[in-house]
Amino acid sequence: MNNFIFYNPTVIVFGKDRLHELTNYIPAGSKVLITYGGGSVIKSGTLQKVKDALQTNTVLEFGGIEPNPRFETLMKAVELIKKENATFLLAVGGGSVMDGTKFISLAVKYNGNPEDILYHGFKPVDLKEAMPLGNVVTLPATGSEMNIAGVISYKKGKYGVLSPLTFPKFSFLDPTLTYTLPETQVANGVVDTFVHVMEQYLTFPVEARFQDRTAEGILQTLIEIGRKTIDNPQDYDARANLVWCSTMALNGLIGAGVPQDWATHMIGHELTASFGIDHAKTLAIIMPALLEVRFEQKKSKLVQYAERVWKIENGNDDEKATLAISKTREFFESLGVKTRLTDYGVTQFAFDDILTGLEEKKLTALSETRDVTLDISRLILEKAL
Ligand code: NZQ
Ligand code: ZN
Repeated sequence: MNNFIFYNPTVIVFGKDRLHELTNYIPAGSKVLITYGGGSVIKSGTLQKVKDALQTNTVLEFGGIEPNPRFETLMKAVELIKKENATFLLAVGGGSVMDGTKFISLAVKYNGNPEDILYHGFKPVDLKEAMPLGNVVTLPATGSEMNIAGVISYKKGKYGVLSPLTFPKFSFLDPTLTYTLPETQVANGVVDTFVHVMEQYLTFPVEARFQDRTAEGILQTLIEIGRKTIDNPQDYDARANLVWCSTMALNGLIGAGVPQDWATHMIGHELTASFGIDHAKTLAIIMPALLEVRFEQKKSKLVQYAERVWKIENGNDDEKATLAISKTREFFESLGVKTRLTDYGVTQFAFDDILTGLEEKKLTALSETRDVTLDISRLILEKAL
């Protein structure tokens, strides 16, 4: 097992009908800016429930944060905070609203050019302070509710923001607030969570038995409840398991002390930036293709994955690993998520642009061993056709 520091201060308040407890976690006298997306929280009544719970606070609202939140939109919230002197941010929504709110919390306290926060997010510039933030989660997928990451769209790309200052103070996870999600967003949540686990698990063995078995437990849970929670959105237990798996998949726990391979996400982000394909759907396209191209480097873990997650007992190592990759693709397809570039109208004529996008962001040495060059990313795209 590799050395690591594990730190995660976010309070999780899990379960039905607990929004009345919000004020236990927001400092008294705070002027709260509620951030939200395109209006689902108005339609579902969640925004009203949050406002009802905050009657003892002064509350402002900022709506219109779009999926794959845009820098320009978020800077409008920064202006509003400065004008109104808000002191606490409460994101009510999915990953885009939570990520956007993390960016807002940094940008409002940053004296330099806010673009810096994006470009150097992975090696933070001098970020000294962030406005405190909390979340009411309406979409289980990204894990943003319990991690330091955000992904912001700017110009022609998606850029990471990664600062420990943006750990949410708390996140309310009420599975019933996710019942209104359309099927395709629930499927996205299952796939995004699955791939987050795979990118921290399916690399090479380092004797991290707890991390491996926890990762395998999340994957098996997703396989058990994935289709079920799409078909029966109000089955509380199935949805509760998805919600908790999504959070635990990307809060640092299973990634501590193990190699990680975020190549699928990095190539996927380019597909979203260029073609507007939903984040999770880009992962469903790239991951099976990446596993095929990186078969030899990942074989040992692929066999473990085949045996423990998919219970494949027959055949030699190559056969088991190959079958596990097919099962992964079939699982995504069984959720209604297509796994080929051509399913989304993307052909090989787009590859040069996608690779240029990676190059511009210096994403030319991806993977757990940093040997996925642009040529190998091209091979992955070719396999994904
Ligand atoms: O905008 P509204 O009207 O709220 O509608 C949203 C949006 O259209 C809708 N929705 C959310 N909750 C709902 C609902 N509709 C009905 N009922 C509800 N309860 O769902 C749509 C998609 O929402 P979005 O927040 O964009 O989805 P998701 O949670 O999948 O977030 C995707 C974003 O997260 C980033 C992605 O890159 C992408 O920008 N990621 C963030 C990560 C992180 N912070 O660690 C890691 C991830 O890998 C990912 O990259
Ligand atoms: Zn993701």
